Amino acid sequence: MLLEVHNVSNTYKIYRGFGKKEGKPVLDRVTFDMSRGEILGILGESGCGKTTLGKCILGLIEYDGSIRIDNLRQGFLSKQRRELSRKVQAVFQDPGGSLNPARSIGWILEEPLKIHRLGSKQERIKKVDETLDLVGLESSYKTRAVQELSGGQRQRVSIACALMLEPKLIIADEAVSSLDVSLGAQILNLFQDLHQRIKMGLLFISHNLKAVYHLCGRIAVMYQGQIVEIGPAEAVYTAPAHPYTRLLLEPLAGLKPVTPWREGCRFAPQCPQKSQICITPPELSPVPSEPSHFARCWN
Ligand SMILES: Nc1ncnc2c1ncn2[C@@H]1O[C@H](COP(=O)(O)OP(=O)(O)OP(=O)(O)O)[C@@H](O)[C@H]1O
Ligand SMILES: [Mg+2]
Repeated sequence: MLLEVHNVSNTYKIYRGFGKKEGKPVLDRVTFDMSRGEILGILGESGCGKTTLGKCILGLIEYDGSIRIDNLRQGFLSKQRRELSRKVQAVFQDPGGSLNPARSIGWILEEPLKIHRLGSKQERIKKVDETLDLVGLESSYKTRAVQELSGGQRQRVSIACALMLEPKLIIADEAVSSLDVSLGAQILNLFQDLHQRIKMGLLFISHNLKAVYHLCGRIAVMYQGQIVEIGPAEAVYTAPAHPYTRLLLEPLAGLKPVTPWREGCRFAPQCPQKSQICITPPELSPVPSEPSHFARCWN
């Protein structure tokens, strides 16, 4: 297995002044696996915890439960952080937001190799050229600064940056969301192309239903910090087993504002199919006669 996420829960501490702290529970026992080279899509409305899950996997925040990447335990205090930072990398929404504006693209791309003391100067420059080529940019981009690039080019550089250490897993968090339709499609094609060429695992977090369907082999749907459905993309899109997924996939579905959960199924307050049994919280369970498709629903 490339990634094993087991019972991951997290609570943000919110400081209310005068030393008072409040806990805000976000993730609730999130459990799933990813095999090597797999593309898993994560869908779910704003605030359901997608980015938080990504941050846990990147080892950026604390969590309860366990996350293993390539058999190494990920965590805020993991002794294997250095090794893990080579195995998992991220691409975020804001193209170039994490790129140093004071340095050239070549310098920025070479930096992770220097930090990890990889290769001679010559080898590092060769790697920079190869990676630029991989993301569809000429090697002359090395001397350019971030400000001189378009949004699409910046996103290509961000992806190149994530690829420099040859990670086994890339977390793309809304990586095409701030780009216009045609640019988004180009970056999506780039992910697909890269995946075919280097077979990295990709955890693709997005609001874009089409993009997720287009790219991902499997899809997990989150609702209020829980996975409510997970399965092969085709099955989830053509035969969604959870009422929330059905509403999500319906164009212009009239989802009501999120009501905080109290007891039972978290989706029950807005579920068209709720019944008495929903007072008992459902577990993620297999969908009858559909292999590797699971949903958190009694119906
Ligand atoms: N650093 C933080 N401190 C406190 N609460 C936070 C923090 N980061 C996120 N949250 C809260 O945790 C919840 C989940 O946030 P998260 O960013 O993971 O959502 P998301 O699914 O990525 O949403 P979006 O689709 O809008 O990006 C939200 O209610 C958010 O307000
Ligand atoms: Mg987010």
